[in-house]
Amino acid sequence: MSGRIIVTGATGSMGAAAVEALAARGHAVLMACRNRDKAEAVRKDILSRVPQADILIRQLDLASMASVRLFVDSLGDEPVEALFNNAGVISKGYFKTLDGFENTFSVNYFGPWLLTQLLLPKLPPDARIVNMISLTCRYARLDETKLQPTKREFRQLKTYALAKRAMISFSMELARRYPSLRVNLADPGIVASDMIDLGHWYDGLADVLFKPFCRKPKAGVQPALRALAAAEGNRYYVGKGSREIPERFRDPELDARIWAATEALIGV
Ligand SMILES: NC(=O)c1ccc[n+]([C@@H]2O[C@H](COP(=O)([O-])OP(=O)(O)OC[C@H]3O[C@@H](n4cnc5c(N)ncnc54)[C@H](OP(=O)(O)O)[C@@H]3O)[C@@H](O)[C@H]2O)c1
Repeated sequence: MSGRIIVTGATGSMGAAAVEALAARGHAVLMACRNRDKAEAVRKDILSRVPQADILIRQLDLASMASVRLFVDSLGDEPVEALFNNAGVISKGYFKTLDGFENTFSVNYFGPWLLTQLLLPKLPPDARIVNMISLTCRYARLDETKLQPTKREFRQLKTYALAKRAMISFSMELARRYPSLRVNLADPGIVASDMIDLGHWYDGLADVLFKPFCRKPKAGVQPALRALAAAEGNRYYVGKGSREIPERFRDPELDARIWAATEALIGV
């Protein structure tokens, strides 16, 4: 790889672990983060262990399509080698972004969708794109009417699972439309991070009884790191290996409809 690897959500548990691992392997990395101060602190911390790390920071808020566009414009002629769509959130409640999207859907799906599309002209034809998904997708029943949940339809985990499921659909359609790209999915398992605090009374209990048994971020990000070095695309990286995208996620007609509906909603 010769250009930068963009890592979104690089201030988070797995994002920071990915930046450190990639930088330690000699890759130039671009941290795409919504909070610049937090990103500077993460970069400083990584530099204390990896002094040769080549890390840039740029602001990116995936809850704002305007921010996604500004981010891509800000790259100018900076060569980009690969994209790791890692940022994610499970919103604690229902709220809409300025673009009118439900927040969980914006950060996990609409923002990364637009980001990926706008970056395509800057990426080499065989670029690696890795999309972080979740085992919660397994039972998510997606169709184009689910992309904009109403307040009544919103459920923290169900909405998150649908947004991640939409990202799988996007990945498959992207690979179909741009066959030379290497688009892969990474599933980290259950990882002890801020994300699994759902804002409930039992979060404190979970910290003591549940989190110690979850994967650590460094372990959780391994499938994604392997996907970022993959020779081929269309694989599902989980645990210590990779396999074909599970049958339950294969529905080319659905993928095409979700793509068209998303294009219309974002207005590209
Ligand atoms: N933890 C798990 O068990 C688990 C399981 C399956 C999949 N995943 C996926 O793995 C990825 C990383 O999760 P994690 O566990 O490392 O979570 P995390 O520690 O909470 O990190 C999430 C990252 O996303 C960023 N983010 C949130 N809202 C954003 C926005 N509007 N714009 C841009 N960035 C935003 C956060 O930025 P701030 O630092 O500014 O908040 C943070 O850097 C996510 O896609 C998640 O869905 C996690």
